[in-house]
Amino acid sequence: MIVLGIETSCDETAAAIVKDGREILANVIYSQVKTHTPYGGVVPELASREHLLKIRPIVEQAFADAGLGLDDIDGIAATSGPGLIGSLLVGLTYAKALAFSKRKPLAAVNHIEGHIYSVSFEHPAAEFPALALVVSGGHTNLFWVESETGDFRHLKYKLVGKTRDDAAGEAYDKVAKLLGLTYPGGPIIDRLAKTGNRDAFRFTIPKISDRALDFSFSGIKTAVLQMVKENEKLKEDPLRLDLCASFQEAVVNMLWNTTLKAAERLRPHSIMLSGGVAANSRLREVFAERAAGAGLKFYYPKLIFTTDNAAMIAAAGTAKLMRGETVGIDVNADPNLRLAVSDRILPNKRWKS
Ligand code: KG4
Ligand code: ZN
Repeated sequence: MIVLGIETSCDETAAAIVKDGREILANVIYSQVKTHTPYGGVVPELASREHLLKIRPIVEQAFADAGLGLDDIDGIAATSGPGLIGSLLVGLTYAKALAFSKRKPLAAVNHIEGHIYSVSFEHPAAEFPALALVVSGGHTNLFWVESETGDFRHLKYKLVGKTRDDAAGEAYDKVAKLLGLTYPGGPIIDRLAKTGNRDAFRFTIPKISDRALDFSFSGIKTAVLQMVKENEKLKEDPLRLDLCASFQEAVVNMLWNTTLKAAERLRPHSIMLSGGVAANSRLREVFAERAAGAGLKFYYPKLIFTTDNAAMIAAAGTAKLMRGETVGIDVNADPNLRLAVSDRILPNKRWKS
């Protein structure tokens, strides 16, 4: 089955063509980062306008790269939420029009589910049940993922934990701004932290009650704000390098501590990391080391599939299309679309071990 994936939930206009949910025939990503950098973050109105300009050439580029035409695909998958409403509408409406005019089945994909599928390209035989940590600019969620089929063809999700305030990527971007770095700051902090001393500054890891499996990053961010207010020199190298490394260590420890706590209670077969922040070199390193230490398999996507892309949307969409989970042309974008929200594994429930 050959599927066209379309992703426009935030500031990337992306199209991909994927065969059988595995083989990537084309993967085109246009990043709007240059448009938004002067404003220090994504400007929704500018994002939707640029998606409008780019959606057609990007989809055409994907077909050209794959050496295929519209008649060669078996279905279309587009992100329907969560994200910026104006941005989502561009990709979803384009997909609906293509599906309607060419009589192709259409799947609406949750962006977060897409991120979870980004792991499937490198690790099609990943073991379930898994704990999937999705860390991006907009989300920090931990899911319990079971498979009906033992593989990626039919996954079911329960929410285990989420951030109580900022998303991990948001914390990175805000701290970067405080330190005078450009948007998006996550990759820059990652680079600067490599030469800094991660023990230079101590952050108190926010206390989340023992049974809760949530995350919190705003305390760490506010601590950086206070430190910088008290000592302007922290905005300059070499102190800035140490601050980046120490901040990053606090974020990575927050992410690992909650994930480990959940793993000890739920006993998954593996841990899956995805989302833009999964590109972080220290996060990948710490999770790989500690998961191995805890006897857990650990899977993460190739760098190109960590940040927003349409290949992951095509992969998640393929699973849906194969199960006949199609949508009609009346499907709407939902900026607050949730994955498994009504199905949260409550932290105060008694766990079977
Ligand atoms: O998944 P994504 O492309 O978009 C959302 O769905 O939000 O994630 C973008 C986020 C940004 O906050 C960016 O700063 C962060 O991922 N990010 C990183 C790294 N690369 C991207 N954060 C830390 N380290 C990185 N190497
Ligand atoms: Zn994303």
